[in-house]
Amino acid sequence: MIELYNWISGITEDGKLVGRVDPVEGKTTMICPGATGGKSWNQTAFSPRTGWIYSPAQEACNDLIARKDEPVEGRSFIGGNWISKMPPGKTSYGHIDAYDPVTGKKQWTYQYKYWLLASLLATAGDLVFTGDPEGDFFALDARSGQKLWGFPTGAGNRGSAVTYSVNGRQYIANPSGWGSLAGGMGGFYADGVRADGGVAMSGTGGFACLVLVLAPYGFAQTMQELIARGAELYAKTCATGYCHGVKGAAGGAPRLASRGFDETYILTTTRVGVTGTAMQAFGTTLPRRDLMAVVAYVATLNGIASPNLGRGMPVAEVPPRVLPADAKIGRELFFDSVRGFARCSTCHALDGLGIAVTTPIANIPANVAALRELVTPQVKTATSGGDSFPALVLTQGVRETKVYDLTLPPPVLRVFPAGTVKVADGSAWKHSSVLGAYQDAELASILSFLRAVVTPAP
Ligand code: HEC
Repeated sequence: MIELYNWISGITEDGKLVGRVDPVEGKTTMICPGATGGKSWNQTAFSPRTGWIYSPAQEACNDLIARKDEPVEGRSFIGGNWISKMPPGKTSYGHIDAYDPVTGKKQWTYQYKYWLLASLLATAGDLVFTGDPEGDFFALDARSGQKLWGFPTGAGNRGSAVTYSVNGRQYIANPSGWGSLAGGMGGFYADGVRADGGVAMSGTGGFACLVLVLAPYGFAQTMQELIARGAELYAKTCATGYCHGVKGAAGGAPRLASRGFDETYILTTTRVGVTGTAMQAFGTTLPRRDLMAVVAYVATLNGIASPNLGRGMPVAEVPPRVLPADAKIGRELFFDSVRGFARCSTCHALDGLGIAVTTPIANIPANVAALRELVTPQVKTATSGGDSFPALVLTQGVRETKVYDLTLPPPVLRVFPAGTVKVADGSAWKHSSVLGAYQDAELASILSFLRAVVTPAP
């Protein structure tokens, strides 16, 4: 069902694997599909009308460095370093295929630029329904694979639609909302594309908004490229139905288009957020050049064709940093997608990537033992309505208190109206509790990476 595979050359009719590639300990082997590729949990559909089976797949490979591993209770057990890597000239992508299950012959393919993590639903009207991570829930012609219809749901799709009928009328219900391990993994780590996930939750009105930022690595050189990139970031981050709507036309949050906003106002609001609302301070979560791209785009929605970003205009791309070999491995591990929310970059931003939940890393522990024993004085205990949890305080103002709830990764941003939360020093939370996914040798590589990129505290 997938196009890129090399771990075997085939399967015999009685199910035996032919030409199996076994990774060799300590050596790098490119394996396709990788840990996150292939056909997975999102279900296929079968139509008795066409007699065909419809199946989603995602193409992703890993450079695997196998390592001897003994299982240790409470730790993940993955037998090696799985580094996201595609064969030369290939990027990660997804597709939906129709097969005749009797002959195995492929009938059609619907290609898509990112992964498709939602399930498929086939109906008697010869339609196949599913959704994409950009938020579109859509229908394909079951016989040709042609896209017939789509609806922007405002959030990425990774669930399963159902169909039912009431009084003779057929309905389709579909959950939408990005997230989960695979979604948070930088789901579509095509070369040059990355995804940062973060969950923002306001404690005031039971409102939950999933924030997904999709940003190409490649750096915009011209204003036009910057605006195009801002448009994409905006579509992924700000345009959900809960928030500002497509092209700033308003959703749950105010309209942004044609408001007469200027660049300075847009930059300030985007950077520091709006107190008392779900508008976050994106200056803390978006890399600077992405922030400027969004500002430039929103300026164009306000009639400014050629936004003036002044000193904020990002200049030429910083050439990629050359790291020593061990630090390079550490870098992969720090942002490792396979570890999901257990990776360091769930809470730490470095090198323009990751999510800055806590203050930038400035002190590097001397060795792995010191890293494992790290004390975390900034983590406090917040209590609200009889519920206590470990918290990192972001702001404590007259009107509200904003904290990250560290109960379980990923940290959740919670906003409490003044007087509804108490914060006390000290917490039972331990930094070591979030390092369980890493072995000592891996943490040693990560420390090499930190030594190579962190500007030490004065
Ligand atoms: C669930 C969130 C979370 C994850 C995951 C996490 N950390 Fe942290 N880390 C924190 C918090 C919170 C602090 C700051 C605590 C304080 O200063 O009180 C911190 C502090 C640190 C510090 C000290 C920085 C300084 O300047 O004092 C280092 C170093 C560090 N983390 C490294 C790592 C590494 C390496 C990983 C991955 C192996 C990792 N962290 C994973 C939350 C996390």
